[in-house]
Amino acid sequence: MVPKISTLSGYLYEYQKSIADPTGFWARVAESFYWRKPWTKVLDWDFHKPEVKWFIDGKLNITENIFERHLFLRAKQPALIWEPNNPKEPHRILTYEELYREVNKFANVLKSLGVGKGDRVAMYLPMVPQLAIAMLAVARIGAIHSVVFGGFSARALAERLQDAQAKVLITADGGYRGAKTIPLKQTADEALEQSPSVEKVVVVRRTAEKVPFVEGRDLWWDDLMKDAAEYCEPVEMDAEDPLFILYTSGSTGKPKGVLHTTGGYMVYTAYTFRNVFQYRDGDVYFCAADIGWITGHSYIVYGPLLEGATSVMFEGIPTWPAPDRYWQVIEKYGVNEFYTSPTAIRALLAKGESWPASYEMKSLRVLGTVGEPINEEAWHWYHDHVGKGRCPIVDTWWQTETGGIMISPLAGITPTKPAYATLPLPGIRPVIVDNDGNKLYGKNVEGNLCVEFPWPGMARTLWGDHERYKQAYFSAFPGLYFTGDGVKRDEDGYYRILGRIDDVINVSGHRLGTAEIENAINEHPLVAESAVVGFPHPVKGQGIYAFVVVPDLREELDDELRESLVKGVAKIIGPIAKPDRIQFVNGLPKTRSGKIMRRILRKIVHDSTDFGDISTLTNPEIVDELIAGYKALNG
Ligand code: WT7
Repeated sequence: MVPKISTLSGYLYEYQKSIADPTGFWARVAESFYWRKPWTKVLDWDFHKPEVKWFIDGKLNITENIFERHLFLRAKQPALIWEPNNPKEPHRILTYEELYREVNKFANVLKSLGVGKGDRVAMYLPMVPQLAIAMLAVARIGAIHSVVFGGFSARALAERLQDAQAKVLITADGGYRGAKTIPLKQTADEALEQSPSVEKVVVVRRTAEKVPFVEGRDLWWDDLMKDAAEYCEPVEMDAEDPLFILYTSGSTGKPKGVLHTTGGYMVYTAYTFRNVFQYRDGDVYFCAADIGWITGHSYIVYGPLLEGATSVMFEGIPTWPAPDRYWQVIEKYGVNEFYTSPTAIRALLAKGESWPASYEMKSLRVLGTVGEPINEEAWHWYHDHVGKGRCPIVDTWWQTETGGIMISPLAGITPTKPAYATLPLPGIRPVIVDNDGNKLYGKNVEGNLCVEFPWPGMARTLWGDHERYKQAYFSAFPGLYFTGDGVKRDEDGYYRILGRIDDVINVSGHRLGTAEIENAINEHPLVAESAVVGFPHPVKGQGIYAFVVVPDLREELDDELRESLVKGVAKIIGPIAKPDRIQFVNGLPKTRSGKIMRRILRKIVHDSTDFGDISTLTNPEIVDELIAGYKALNG
């Protein structure tokens, strides 16, 4: 087990030590794992290049650290508790021993399909145990997994399959989400038409609907598993060998394949899991995220299982069949730590406090949030009605690229403050810089959030595009990792995340690039161009507001066109990217160089007219038209 902090003075002491001697600090954490060969050097780094390497020459397999390391003590302990979408369906418990067997068997299946070290295996699955099994099986044989969220469209899936040149895709006949069924295989088939690298498709049976099968390409999971051998030798990996790719949105249209490597990611997710949630042996931990996002990778699968925890995996949604689904799950399994998003909390808050009031949830000890800033109202509701005033809330700030939690209270140790992520974890050196790159020291400062020293969990590159990695994270402020977030440090030295300052919007904790959505809108033949900005949304945090230039505007067609644009975006990206509001306009505010001045659009959707200097606009007259149209549309 990783070293555990248990008091505030312990945290302060560890933090100081980790800053004074970061390599000594991380080496001590890494020593709690099983390495086939120890590292010869802890760290090599250069943020200008950029290059980061941890535990150099160290050899290991991450699944050996989950299974072989724990089996002696935990064979019969539940590793995963799977709760289905429909509460009437039976749940499934996989002990460490059972999960180990499934992982080994599927690792052998993958080998029989020709998958070897370094090959990419993609998953397009619902939240079923096979997803976790497949990820770990891929890791066992040294291949690289790329999980694509089940809500993405065929186009989005195809783009990711092509970019990673995936050899095998694992999908399901369909998936359940509340009252809906998601036709995953059908969407996958459509994507596969444009993904020639994929040789084999493994299909998990979930909904038992009839689905088309391509002879020679498609294979049923269950058939393959029937005869698979029960042991598969783990492949020895270098600490810096890739573990997985996870696509995320950036400020340009193309998704970024964030790459995480083996040794550092292992050390970082385990350390942060144990310390942030203060997980105790025998606890039941429940993270309600989807494994299609980084939260599920780091805090449903890797972090908890590396620490020998019992992790609940939930297939459904918080509001179906009724908005007490989470509270049911918490009571059913005696959950001790619960981790969800501000969006889910706000959605449940809107349904009224009588829902959590009917559940005592006595087992709960720690509550967590992630993905977006949490407003004070939601924070208090979570604290009072879910935690019944007895559970500390950990507001955890981090990103797909950071691999694990960076700024967060340690549960029950760090005094909390609503809407504050509070203090950096040991080993993390946040720095606030102004727009000219000057570091802002001391208290009560606000600016761009950067990190000035590497940590083991950080992304090492973007798949196939190291130059873009440099551009996206190390160029705005040379020598620093730039997060894309604005932040404030208050009089207590506490950090409050203010949200994205780049062209990225955060809808329900999901990151979407405005360019991506604009590209999708612009595909419509009647659209000349568009600009998308985020606007404050009571449940989703940010909603998607699109200003769309249509040269042949005809009012009677507005609603029809709106609907077809929304459908188009859902088809091109996925339902999560559907615009909430569409305003048709005759033009967009532009500078002389032809750049859209989004600042003005952002102000408009925030009900502000404080535009600052607009003298550089070529078409200042458009601003009044935009405001008038905005008022007409939004009352
Ligand atoms: C962005 C990263 C980290 C897993 C889920 C999202 C925002 C994340 C917080 C928080 C305020 C937060 C940031 C960040 N964010 N956590 N506790 N408070 N904002 O991962 O899709 O990579 O998005 O989410 O803006 O940059 P992601």
